[in-house]
Amino acid sequence: MDWNISKAPALNCELEVPGDKSISHRSVMLGSLADGPCVVRGFLPGEDCLSTMEAFRALGVDIERPAPSTLIIHGTGGRFIPPGAAIDCGNSGTTMRLLSGILAAQPFQTRLIGDASLSKRPMKRIIEPLSLMGAHIHAEGAQDRPPLRVEGGGLHGIDYVSPVASAQIKSAVLLAGLFASGNTSVTEPHLSRDHTERMFEFFGIPLKREGLTVTIQGGSRPLPRDFRVPGDVSSAAFWLVAAAAHPGARLRVNRVGLNPSRTGLLGTLARMGARVREFEHSNLGEPFGTIEIEGASLKATRIGGKEIPNVIDELPILSVAAALAEGTTIISDAAELRVKETDRLAAIASHLKAMGVPVVEKPDGLEITGGQPLHGARLDSLGDHRIAMAFAIAGLFAEGETVITGTDCVNTSYPGFYKLLQQVSANRGDQEPLIIRLEEEGNE
Ligand code: S3P
Repeated sequence: MDWNISKAPALNCELEVPGDKSISHRSVMLGSLADGPCVVRGFLPGEDCLSTMEAFRALGVDIERPAPSTLIIHGTGGRFIPPGAAIDCGNSGTTMRLLSGILAAQPFQTRLIGDASLSKRPMKRIIEPLSLMGAHIHAEGAQDRPPLRVEGGGLHGIDYVSPVASAQIKSAVLLAGLFASGNTSVTEPHLSRDHTERMFEFFGIPLKREGLTVTIQGGSRPLPRDFRVPGDVSSAAFWLVAAAAHPGARLRVNRVGLNPSRTGLLGTLARMGARVREFEHSNLGEPFGTIEIEGASLKATRIGGKEIPNVIDELPILSVAAALAEGTTIISDAAELRVKETDRLAAIASHLKAMGVPVVEKPDGLEITGGQPLHGARLDSLGDHRIAMAFAIAGLFAEGETVITGTDCVNTSYPGFYKLLQQVSANRGDQEPLIIRLEEEGNE
């Protein structure tokens, strides 16, 4: 389906976003590894997380789904059965990379496949450390690309120094470390999202953190515990930027995850001139709360260094914020964007140019000169959910019509995005605030 988007008035609303994608994946994994049942509420019913759920079903875990966002996982204590066929990870790099860590320790062979986009993504980054632990992983594609054949076996702990700040690498090694003899540690160059570490602790797995190093002891298993997934701050990011860049706009996002390794965009938007406040309401393994934002005339900023892993998934929408801000925003140290669902640096540069924004593309970043009116354009998602959503938000600010094509990919992380876009863009700033709650059992 194509999306047709026109210029909209300032946002005035209060909303909730679906469950966090990273945390939903991990809740299925930890629940499956536990020795007993776990109830997960607030699970993201997006295609990526459903791929993870189906993978564990194929490995013999009984997972009930009494409602779209509720799972009852009957964990098997880390004992799995060989799947009858290849496991299809769909579009999800998180599924393939984290699952490889668990499968690396199982006494059978598994083949992991993915869609065209996933089949182009680099897997050497997990094959290398898992092989050092004793696993046998063969990439069938050129240059260590999927499909993967994982032949599990006895693993031993390693001290791994990762060249990239990547939660997927860190998590694959730590999950394998649960099954390895001795200790396993991972050191990363900057802190990447720490959901795996927090969930290990919440599920009773002892863990030591020292600076950028995290260490676990082999042989631990998660205890069966119920878990609630907070709303995804990366999904909230689209609405936060739509409000931040529009003077007079007001937005409150409720029940959203506030893990500090994920909320870097709030600091970035505040630096650009938006008024941002966050309130933590609870912390059940992961902090939850409310974000309030008021729009302003944004000004340019610099985004780079250790801030990058914290905003890695928000760089497409922050680039749209940059296009709406006065001055030249410089994004650097972001070469990782080239190996996401698409080459995001190239996609952002070409789409912003199509909307009339001066952009210089660098090997590891972008220079975006904002402040001039955007004009509508016909833009393809390139199969990347965050490109589709970021440019849909850009369309709310553009003169003339913006058409986004190839939008099915948005179901990987944010089912319901377009419906909400239509609702919020119809609500004028001078009306009562529009209040949107997710109609889901997970919200009681
Ligand atoms: C994720 C980690 C990030 C992020 C991805 C989800 C995770 O990838 O971009 O959307 O759930 O661990 P990297 O760790 O490879 O940067």
